[in-house]
Amino acid sequence: MTDAFRIVRTPAALTAAIAAWQRAGRRVAFVPTMGALHDGHLALVRLGLQHADACAASIFVNPKQFGPTEDLDRYPRDEAGDVEKLKGAGCTLLYAPSVATMYPPGFASHVRVAGLPDALCGRVRPGHFDGVATVVAKLLAAARADVAVFGEKDWQQLAIIRRMAADLDLGTQIIGCPIVRDADGLALSSRNAYLSADERARALALPRALADARTALLDGLPVAPALAMGLKSLKAAGFARTDYFELVDGATLASLGAVQPGARLMAAAVMGTTRLIDNLAV
Ligand code: PAF
Repeated sequence: MTDAFRIVRTPAALTAAIAAWQRAGRRVAFVPTMGALHDGHLALVRLGLQHADACAASIFVNPKQFGPTEDLDRYPRDEAGDVEKLKGAGCTLLYAPSVATMYPPGFASHVRVAGLPDALCGRVRPGHFDGVATVVAKLLAAARADVAVFGEKDWQQLAIIRRMAADLDLGTQIIGCPIVRDADGLALSSRNAYLSADERARALALPRALADARTALLDGLPVAPALAMGLKSLKAAGFARTDYFELVDGATLASLGAVQPGARLMAAAVMGTTRLIDNLAV
């Protein structure tokens, strides 16, 4: 079935559009985003369509997940361009609410997942994951889709959303989509647009440090020197700050002192003024 592309801007319209698809017997995938779409987002749409017959996406730059000194104001926005990309990937419904629609006067409810947000990014971005959990809970509650797809680049976010969706009986299956990388290995991110050509070249040290640390760990190097090696190469490449370079349990995000099944290397570091994150299964 071919659908005409539609944009809806209220939660009620999103609920109605997806419910109409479902009443017609179609499984629906939902892809929440903050826009500035790149091939990584389009991979979420394509993966969603492998699990469903129709796909809706959302674009909402969520003020609640940005800290006071973060990049809310300069976060890239291009709804018209994003619409063309969504159409090309087979998504036929866009939910693009305003901030006032999402958080009307008097809005007073927040979702906080305990534990998982305290590690990794949560240590340097206080409140960030509460903002993510709150908006994703609202989006999933309005969409009531069969599946929702999130990228594995934001591994901690994905773990938190899985926990929340299960705890709150949101009724939508959460699917993780593998990281999409440029040909040279840099993980795709809307924030890569902030990097100068020189910073972008030096940022390649991040995926390389993760890959080298994984090789070293699999060759039997103990965890501490493998992580120290990674930190050293990020510093040498000119990262201004490394927030973490850690081996964790991929489900609990607890730090690991030895490789075990499900282990994942996680890193966040700042190149120029741009904070980049990446991760790799070990
Ligand atoms: O990953 C993102 O783009 C955002 O954190 C999300 C999940 C859309 C919530 O605003």
